Amino acid sequence: MADFVLKGHICYSESKNELITRENAYVVCVGGKSKGVFTELPQQYAVLPLKDYSDCLIVPGMIDLHIHAPQYAFRGMCMDLELMDWLNRYTFPEEAKYMELEYAERAYAIFVNALKASATTRAVVFATRHRPATELLMKLMEESGLASYVGKVNMDREAAEVLVEESAAVSASETVQWIEAVKEKYTNTKPILTPRFIPCCSDTLMEHLRQIQMAYGLPVQSHLSESPGEIDFVHFLRPDNAFYGEAYNDYDLFGKNEDNQTDVKTVMAHCVWSTDEEIDLMRKNGVFVAHCPASNMNLSSGIAPIRKYLDLGMNIGLGTDVAGGHSDSIFRAITDAIQVSKMYWRYVDQTMKPITFPEAFYMATLGGGAFFGAVGSFAEGYAFDAVVLDDTALVHPQELSVSERLERAVYLGLDTHGIRAKYVNGEKIIF
Ligand code: GUN
Ligand code: FE
Repeated sequence: MADFVLKGHICYSESKNELITRENAYVVCVGGKSKGVFTELPQQYAVLPLKDYSDCLIVPGMIDLHIHAPQYAFRGMCMDLELMDWLNRYTFPEEAKYMELEYAERAYAIFVNALKASATTRAVVFATRHRPATELLMKLMEESGLASYVGKVNMDREAAEVLVEESAAVSASETVQWIEAVKEKYTNTKPILTPRFIPCCSDTLMEHLRQIQMAYGLPVQSHLSESPGEIDFVHFLRPDNAFYGEAYNDYDLFGKNEDNQTDVKTVMAHCVWSTDEEIDLMRKNGVFVAHCPASNMNLSSGIAPIRKYLDLGMNIGLGTDVAGGHSDSIFRAITDAIQVSKMYWRYVDQTMKPITFPEAFYMATLGGGAFFGAVGSFAEGYAFDAVVLDDTALVHPQELSVSERLERAVYLGLDTHGIRAKYVNGEKIIF
């Protein structure tokens, strides 16, 4: 792997409130990791090849903590229903098509190409319940150079017969075969356990997944407290649980469980309606929240109380939740997160101040990046994931500061036409 230096206007988060901008600065990549950002290039790095992106903005790659690859094909359509009806009417039939590998090949190639061209460098991805199609998706993701966790979905109840797995035992054995096939196959593409959500996973299946998790030590992704109809259904299915998240925690699939001495890296999408008890447990267990504002608007799910989660110091990042969310742009998710937080403050709770731009940028980079380890910043030791943005097309009559240019680039969607280069782990993957 080649070592190198990039020059440009460098922007990154050091914490949730600190957005650092360094004009005409250098960021050094050695062995796929950042050596830090410098205004004067240290002598020891002067020998490295320098790529001059003067006048471009250089930002860490965006992290999408929650996206459904098989739903990319129907993004921007079918946006007239709430979650449970939307799943049954549109999503499950669409996902059933991935039984056919030929369809999966066409559709996943489109998805992966789009993600590769976007500002996203890493994603936590739902596939479908189909093992061959999921393995194909992982192959394509690896070839793209992006970094990801990809999950074969588990679902053994409450969905159309063509999509639901035959039994908990079949779901579990397919999952084990899948993990065995992919666990050490790729550098940047790793498996993640993916119980779809409690309505689709029987108690027996959850028990199997607990055992599989213990055997392989995989992280977990799922959905939590997204929509009122879903939450009512979970209470009906699991009347003994005080709150939804307890249903995952009962199977040690909910972060760190001190009582059982387990520690399972977990990301839960949405958390729009989490109760105080649920929030408390997520915080205690270090569960990551994937905030997906566009999806929450499209499916009329509600507005997640992100100010509360940030102020509690919880692990939090952004997700597009394609196709609940219609766009795969994390820039768009940043602006959506800010905008919905303003509506929350105005309409729901005046003590919950809107999210600031630095906070939303943090969630999109360092906040979500933590799910992958030292990712999402240019501080020394972080994975070298970078996006170079050329904003010269956004002409302005005045001289703007770097932070103004960054905010404008995000709000105006420069990720669709202004990406000059993209790096993952120090490898240039586009342009
Ligand atoms: N809950 C269970 N499955 C899904 C899904 O595919 N999308 C969303 N937004 N929520 C879900
Ligand atoms: Fe989702």
